[in-house]
Amino acid sequence: MLTREENEKITRVGPGTPAGELLRRYWFPVGVASELTAESPTQIVRILGETLVLFRDKKGNVGLLNDRCSHRGASLCYGRVEERGIACPYHGWLYDTKGNCLETPAEPAESKFHLTVKQKSYPVQKLVGLYWAYLGPQPLPLIPNFDVWFRKDGHRKIFIQPQLDCNWFQAMENSMDPAHLQILHQDTANRDVQEFDFYEVSYGLMKRRTYKNGMIDEHPVIFPNILRQGNVGQIRVPMDDTHTKVYFVRFFPSQNGEIVENDEPPVEYIKPYKNPPDALHPYTKFRMDMVQAQDHMAWETQGPIADRTNERLTSSDRGVILLREVMFRELKKVQQGQDPMGIVRDAANNPFIDTHLLESIAQIGDDRAPRAVNQ
Ligand code: FES
Ligand SMILES: [Fe+2]
Repeated sequence: MLTREENEKITRVGPGTPAGELLRRYWFPVGVASELTAESPTQIVRILGETLVLFRDKKGNVGLLNDRCSHRGASLCYGRVEERGIACPYHGWLYDTKGNCLETPAEPAESKFHLTVKQKSYPVQKLVGLYWAYLGPQPLPLIPNFDVWFRKDGHRKIFIQPQLDCNWFQAMENSMDPAHLQILHQDTANRDVQEFDFYEVSYGLMKRRTYKNGMIDEHPVIFPNILRQGNVGQIRVPMDDTHTKVYFVRFFPSQNGEIVENDEPPVEYIKPYKNPPDALHPYTKFRMDMVQAQDHMAWETQGPIADRTNERLTSSDRGVILLREVMFRELKKVQQGQDPMGIVRDAANNPFIDTHLLESIAQIGDDRAPRAVNQ
């Protein structure tokens, strides 16, 4: 059980909040690279309580700016892209990808006013077919060298989950909660767990399960927001306090270990798990015949932000308790000006992390949807 203050501390993601500041030390996906085209050069991004515009100018430079124009606040998402940047749809203030204001067309030609204007901008980079952004203080950290992102001996596919209408930390707690497997997923889980345990690694928390048949399964939560299971990295990106965007990046090793150049992952959007798709419990109904849908049901029905002042934790919740302890410890580090867990700053010290690819190509087939993951 947490106090109300503690619950706020681990769940709120906006600028200046403790978890918001911690999350702003990591890179997050903000869009599918192949969808930002010359025909469709702007996209709204909701992330960490901020509304941003992702755009591609006519030279092909990609930028991420505050969506609200510095002049009088119209949405840049409706702006026109030009060679040098994006022009606000209202009065045409032109911004480059760094947020510099290059023109204020309604001002006298000799005006230097635009030089005093700076639109908030964030750095963007492309990886595994996604644009990733960093919303925190300089200097920029690196994206850690994880196998699913960086292995070259195979190809990837991206699955975009239906929007999760609750706080991101509910999904993370679920990833440290192996006890739900035999209950929530009883129709699909066909192995009995004898015992489970957890231990800390440099980049997160490892979950270890021993099955009754002697098989051992280990897979990590990559702190703070990724579940790494089987061949999939499940990235939970907090949009705001009560909405989360979930990307699955699935890696398919090539048959004989051949190297795949220029891997351009295809993208599949998973159909909504509830009907109506934009309503909240109890005004919507979840399908319950798929593992992911079962998980979304459990996470969303806990409430937009789970009330942890009113819970009854037990011994099987020890993974959840451990995750909270680690979170509080890492929040404190950020408040003291230190880097939280898993931040990599030195390219020479960004070792390849093989977080155990458990399944071979023979077992997973090639292009099928994610299997019983999130267990
Ligand atoms: S509101 Fe953007 S230029 Fe006026
Ligand atoms: Fe699950």
